[in-house]
Amino acid sequence: AAPLVRVAVDGPSATGKSDSAQQLAQRLGFLYVDSGALFRALALALSSKLLPASNPSAIAAYLTGPENPVPRIQWTFPPGRIMLNGHDVSLAIRTDEITQKASEYAVLPAVREALIGLQRHIGVDDPNVRGVVMDGRDIGTTVFPDADAKLFLDGDVHVRAARRVRQRRQQMAAAGDEKLFDAAALDVVRVAEALAARDYRDRTRPQGALACAPDAVVIDSASVTLTEQVDMMEKAVRSRLACDATLL
Ligand code: CDP
Ligand code: CDP
Repeated sequence: AAPLVRVAVDGPSATGKSDSAQQLAQRLGFLYVDSGALFRALALALSSKLLPASNPSAIAAYLTGPENPVPRIQWTFPPGRIMLNGHDVSLAIRTDEITQKASEYAVLPAVREALIGLQRHIGVDDPNVRGVVMDGRDIGTTVFPDADAKLFLDGDVHVRAARRVRQRRQQMAAAGDEKLFDAAALDVVRVAEALAARDYRDRTRPQGALACAPDAVVIDSASVTLTEQVDMMEKAVRSRLACDATLL
């Protein structure tokens, strides 16, 4: 079978990676993969085993031992849900607690090494999948350094925080649950601080740091609407893939 076309989408939090990469994948007829969900699912597994990020040697032993949970993490498509041990954990991985923990565990080389094979393999054995759009932090630099197209989304942290709060309010309205998020999670100033702290941790870790690949197309998410952003991404990918007409 022909190798899969790979499109890497990286950038800090709330630059619209999930929403825009999903729409881009749809337009291209490719599979969308949210690599952050894999890190979140592993964080859920590690925290339920009471293994804190402050104990890297215990985590490394667990992840290389017979109980390694990574083979039991599954990205299911469609509709793009995440399973752990046969249970749908798509909602459980979205809490603030797991968001925070995912970012702390993601610093550890053992955690990154445990997930890299899974990230590279998703879609490979599926004859219906021609290409993969994967979003994350180090997709274009570490997971798929030879990706066919790379996009890096960036943007002012205050705009990102305001969009994150708006997104949470929409989620609360959709769920009919006014208590889905606490006051801090809806305060733009505090959300901006939390985003900046997580971005800093993501940018400064020794392995798999958030970074813009030299051959990535950079898009300022703060100055465009979501649809404009997807349009720019689609245009960039199609122009990269145009060199090889068999890819599209
Ligand atoms: O949606 P949001 O940007 O808030 O987070 P996410 O993409 O779901 O990622 C959650 C955490 O997982 C991030 O803070 C990163 O530390 C980590 N992550 C990573 O290290 N590498 C990736 N490829 C994806 C996520
Ligand atoms: O995955 P990531 O954390 O990078 O971001 P997201 O969850 O896809 O996007 C955060 C929020 O910003 C979502 O509600 C997006 O629809 C919104 N957004 C926007 O309104 N305009 C953009 N240009 C990009 C994102």
